[in-house]
Amino acid sequence: MKIHEYQGKQIFARYGVPIPKGYPAFTVDEAEAMAKKLIAETSSPVVVVKAQIHAGGRGKGGGVKVAKGGATEARDLATRILGMQLVTHQTGPSGQKVRRLYIEQGLDIERELYLSALVDRDQRRVAFMASTEGGMDIEKVAADTPEKILSVHADPVVGLSPYQARQLAYGLGLEKHGKETVAQFLKLVGSLYTLFLKEDCSLVEINPLIVTKSGGVVALDSKINFDDNADFRHPDWNELRDEDEEDRVELEAKKAGLNYVSLDGNVGCLVNGAGLAMATMDIIKHAGEKHGVSPANFLDVGGGANQEQVTKAFSMILKSPKVKAIFVNIFGGIMKCDVIANGVVMAAKELGLKVPVIVRLEGTNVELGRNILTQSGLRIEAATSMFDGAQKIVAAVAGGAR
Ligand SMILES: Nc1ncnc2c1ncn2[C@@H]1O[C@H](COP(=O)(O)OP(=O)(O)O)[C@@H](O)[C@H]1O
Ligand SMILES: [Mg+2]
Repeated sequence: MKIHEYQGKQIFARYGVPIPKGYPAFTVDEAEAMAKKLIAETSSPVVVVKAQIHAGGRGKGGGVKVAKGGATEARDLATRILGMQLVTHQTGPSGQKVRRLYIEQGLDIERELYLSALVDRDQRRVAFMASTEGGMDIEKVAADTPEKILSVHADPVVGLSPYQARQLAYGLGLEKHGKETVAQFLKLVGSLYTLFLKEDCSLVEINPLIVTKSGGVVALDSKINFDDNADFRHPDWNELRDEDEEDRVELEAKKAGLNYVSLDGNVGCLVNGAGLAMATMDIIKHAGEKHGVSPANFLDVGGGANQEQVTKAFSMILKSPKVKAIFVNIFGGIMKCDVIANGVVMAAKELGLKVPVIVRLEGTNVELGRNILTQSGLRIEAATSMFDGAQKIVAAVAGGAR
């Protein structure tokens, strides 16, 4: 689960990670009022107006602007940014609508650094990564000059050792700014580790972490991802959730108790079980790669889905505009093939079938399931195997190309 920058910074503040002063704003009026308040509190006319969306790269996309002319200029910037469709390298070409702003104190930046903590699955540890090349292009740094990224791994029993934090501090050249700067950084790294564990994060990223002109260390941006597996012990996450930022269909699926992942392709897939879902993605890619055919989603109805859930699942696929053909690939183990067949037929009758549907059914009650489909009068093509199904899907989408 992702949260906004300002929410992340509120968490930072609770753990003693230094942040600039700032206030969220949902309207232009609020933005102006918050800018006035900040200017009075900081006795500086510089405020930064920041779009709040669940994606980075806002600065480059025009979603982070500095106002040096007081609250009136902040208001003008807020008018421009609020409601804009912000496109960044992380939003995809259609961008994301800006519905919230963060009005923040502008700081004097001496250096922009990068610091993050994440779960390194290979090492089974929390890794800290740091780089002198902070700011807006860390992906490029990682790709072109990976040696500029330092990393240390925290021991799960001992925690992050002081010497490891010092390795990062000296690796970032912080001693040049004086002892106090190093000390502040060490404290920050410690706080970040506590925060990471206590809040059940999968990623905490500060880009940029800045050294101010006066030698202070401050988190100028925040990105926090929570580990969804821990949501049962975080009722507080409900308040942080912003449904406007989530994929609408994924949200609908979650509410119906289905596993759904939205992808970029053109084939809707109704599958049961994560393993079969993966295999289905692979085989569609394998058969369709050269023909521009690939999965548009991954919808796993699991083992125990009832009639209603299957109908819901198939309706969701039918409603997706990017779906040009549907592959129903079911192995009935606990799930019964007739339940699937009934769900498919019910949803198709309700919404109409505008795209070809290829069905491969095997397992429990398979004959019953096949009969339901053939007797439905719907134009559904049967596949004899997974590969046959994949080839039929490719033919249906790419027009006969095999
Ligand atoms: N409070 C601030 N004071 C001064 N400059 C800022 C402030 N917040 C952001 N910036 C500048 O804007 C850049 C982009 O902001 P950031 O919050 O990192 O957004 P994003 O990563 O989405 O582009 C920063 O690298 C920094 O140079
Ligand atoms: Mg940033």
